[in-house]
Amino acid sequence: MNIFNLKVNGIRKPLGYNFNSIYISYELDDVILGNDYLVMLEVSSSNNFKNLIYKSKLNNIVGSKSFSIEIDLKVRTRYYYRICIKDLENNIHFSNIEWFETGKMDEPWQANWISTPENISHPILNKEIEVNRKVINARLYCTGLGLYEANLNGEKIGDEQLSPGYHDYSKWLQIQTYDITELFTLGLNYLEFTLGNGWYKGNFGFNGGSNNIYGDRFLLIGEIHISYEDGSTEVIKTDSTWKYTNSNITESGIYYGEDRNDNVNLINNHSVTVVDYGYDLLKDRLSVPIKIKEKINPAKILTNDKEELILDMGQNMVGWVAFHNKLSRNSNISIEYGEILQNGYFYRDNLRHARAKYTYVSDGKVKWIRPKFSFFGFRYVKITGITKEEIKLEDFVGEVVFSDLEQTGHIETNNSDINQLFSNIFWSQKGNFVDVPTDCPQRDERMGWTGDAQVFSETALYNMDAYAFYKKYLNDLQLEQAPNGAVPMTVPSMTLEETNESTAVWGDVCAILPWNLYKFYGNKNILKDSLPSMKKWISYIQSKSQDYLWTEGFQFGDWLALDGPSPYSPLGGTEEKLIATIYSYYSTKIVADSLNILDKSGSHGYYELANKIKSAIQNEYLSSNGRLVVNTQTAYTLILYFEIFEPHQKETLLENFKNILKKSNYTIQTGFVGTPLLCLTLSKYGEDEIAYTLLFNKDCPSWLYAIDMGATTIWERWDSVLPNGVMNENGMNSLNHYAYGSIGQWMYEYLLGIKQFEGSVGFTNIQIQPKINWRLNFVKGFYHSPSGKVDVSWENINNDITLNVTIPPGVEGRIILENTEVNYFSHYHQAFQKGKNVEVIVTQGTYKFTYQQKVKYKVPNKHWSLNDFSNIPVGYQLLQKFLPHYFSLKPYKKNDIKNIPLVDLPKQNVLSVTNDAYLHLLTAIKNLDNL
Ligand code: BGC
Repeated sequence: MNIFNLKVNGIRKPLGYNFNSIYISYELDDVILGNDYLVMLEVSSSNNFKNLIYKSKLNNIVGSKSFSIEIDLKVRTRYYYRICIKDLENNIHFSNIEWFETGKMDEPWQANWISTPENISHPILNKEIEVNRKVINARLYCTGLGLYEANLNGEKIGDEQLSPGYHDYSKWLQIQTYDITELFTLGLNYLEFTLGNGWYKGNFGFNGGSNNIYGDRFLLIGEIHISYEDGSTEVIKTDSTWKYTNSNITESGIYYGEDRNDNVNLINNHSVTVVDYGYDLLKDRLSVPIKIKEKINPAKILTNDKEELILDMGQNMVGWVAFHNKLSRNSNISIEYGEILQNGYFYRDNLRHARAKYTYVSDGKVKWIRPKFSFFGFRYVKITGITKEEIKLEDFVGEVVFSDLEQTGHIETNNSDINQLFSNIFWSQKGNFVDVPTDCPQRDERMGWTGDAQVFSETALYNMDAYAFYKKYLNDLQLEQAPNGAVPMTVPSMTLEETNESTAVWGDVCAILPWNLYKFYGNKNILKDSLPSMKKWISYIQSKSQDYLWTEGFQFGDWLALDGPSPYSPLGGTEEKLIATIYSYYSTKIVADSLNILDKSGSHGYYELANKIKSAIQNEYLSSNGRLVVNTQTAYTLILYFEIFEPHQKETLLENFKNILKKSNYTIQTGFVGTPLLCLTLSKYGEDEIAYTLLFNKDCPSWLYAIDMGATTIWERWDSVLPNGVMNENGMNSLNHYAYGSIGQWMYEYLLGIKQFEGSVGFTNIQIQPKINWRLNFVKGFYHSPSGKVDVSWENINNDITLNVTIPPGVEGRIILENTEVNYFSHYHQAFQKGKNVEVIVTQGTYKFTYQQKVKYKVPNKHWSLNDFSNIPVGYQLLQKFLPHYFSLKPYKKNDIKNIPLVDLPKQNVLSVTNDAYLHLLTAIKNLDNL
């Protein structure tokens, strides 16, 4: 038996984090679990487990593999923990011993905040430390404002970037803890902190940014607690004995980039000043560290008739380019960042006010250089200062920077476009997971927009273990929620004023995100901690509602849907009040369900409120026969997804939904609100074929349109780049915005086919039901759930199906094989015919199913359009064979012909083709049985 993957609050070996609640998780393999296996958690202050400070009861192992515990912890103490499992023969199996270590908690600080007497740019605060005995343990507890990078004896302390990260610095200041035992040497040690602007000071924020949102002074606080071999201890702290000098960094900013001059005259060390900045806001960290997670080499060097030298990274990425400096003394290089070329030229109008540039003046020494206090979102990098002859690809490396989260999901198919879509979703998550879930990583924004975070959260949770990352985001949200319950539109809100106004879908993140985390991880703590914030949100909504309809205040609505009032309006075509009220229904239900789960009273009142909201929507927007007043893709999606109808209205609603999709030729008319739920809704009602049609469409707007246009991340707008390759002139236009990547959830749940049974949490009960479709013959992937890794792959060769599934120990799997008969599976005791499908109930193990599926495809008739014809297997195959050009047509060309009925094809000289292939196509169509 292997007990592994032990984490505390979603983090391996957390050092100096906030442990106000403790949630310990683990995984199992190499074991066939019986129900009578028992599991126990032990926590000790020593690694021989002699002093147990916590021992759980022997619990039944079935259910989620985690413990939520409450223990009194001491400051600056390492705790060891292990999982013990008792098997049927009473043998005890132990996991490896793991640890977590507390930080300063509420221990009073001995250190002072220090700064420079005058404001100098990017100072280095430093101290010489004499060590004359062997150090056996040393920890640094510190934080700097805005950003800091610490070195001991010339070596960077830790491998984090951009510390202390991105949070509301007026509400709390995160302390980082580092183990620096190994960095000390006998004799004199030199400790230095370089300070940069970051999010705290300098220019940052909405609308081009404001100056010095939280402060205008560089500040540092730190304590080093050392234990020596002879048993003595010492605390070295920031105080008036520290010195400062200037650094080689002359300017920096998140949007600005950085300027570095290695020939700058360094002033002599002077004494720092002690500043009274208070200690109350200092708290142990929650942020997952930001790290250099990957390195990529530029794909090629491009040039043009403007003599621009441009590196193409081959991937839109976030971080920076490190440069191997070989420049002579006083030579300069400048590195500018952009996302796209226009006509072969470097382009960055879409970065708006972000300068996004790094400059460097060389001291003539060969070394690698990179920014310390900024990051960029880019694919293309313009280099100035080196000639075409001198530039070498190997002197540049793209360092990809994001929060240190583990990948938990992957999907691969035989279709390269779908694979690219998955890759784009994943890259947009990496780029927008730099401590805060952001809208975009490149322009003068990069903020924690709540709506974007909400709509992408489920996809994000399949892709990565983001429990700790979102927990910190929710902590910040709750700190910033206004007393009237309004949730800021961005978290951190990057303003010192409280906003008393909020909008639906965006603000609903305060209920939906904890709920999603609970569903994924099964940990009730997250609901308990979030309940007060959720309840406040519901009363805020009711204060803006009349007769249960949310009527008051500004709404973003179905942001960026293309069915809006004008091509320049970001507001979609779906009535904002309908959207807002539907979300108020959903959030109210979440509160009621959460109360139920937490055994708290009061759920009844919230269920009652939810029902009243539901009736109000039905009365206002739905005819008794099931026609919807707001006739948009998003309106139907929401009404159907959240089941806001009476049973007899369902068929009409579904028919109208399908009609409206057909009318748009299966192009997407939904924005930030409708898009995440569009295919989920179709599949919920068994309309998987239409979901696939939407997914495979390449006409604009669609997911694959961007892929066709060369996207390597998800765009902010469906038409961020117009069919002629020109950037959409709307000022707000990022090429790395994950909201539409929320299709990822559908891809995991339906294309790959992994989701939880209704009611399961923590993935203890998993349903495998891939929607096998003729457009794909191979899909493979996994989701590494909190209950273990689930693998699925399927192959479809002319409806001969092979499905492989692996279910982890302690998990119940319900595998649903669609459109087939139980006699293929006679050796499975637990296989049942359920209507057209077969259901197999399994426990852990690896299973292979081979069977035939019977699918009835729609039969075309001569009045079908070419487009509809291309969406059934026979039509797709004939067009691929005889008119492959059809599929690669740019949308504006395709629009002219896709609606031509089959019967008119001979009359219309489609694509001006008169060759043999076209005639073969016409004959083949004619020969189809019924045409
Ligand atoms: C952001 C969005 C955000 C929106 C609010 C934009 O500037 O980039 O993604 O949700 O504003 O509607």
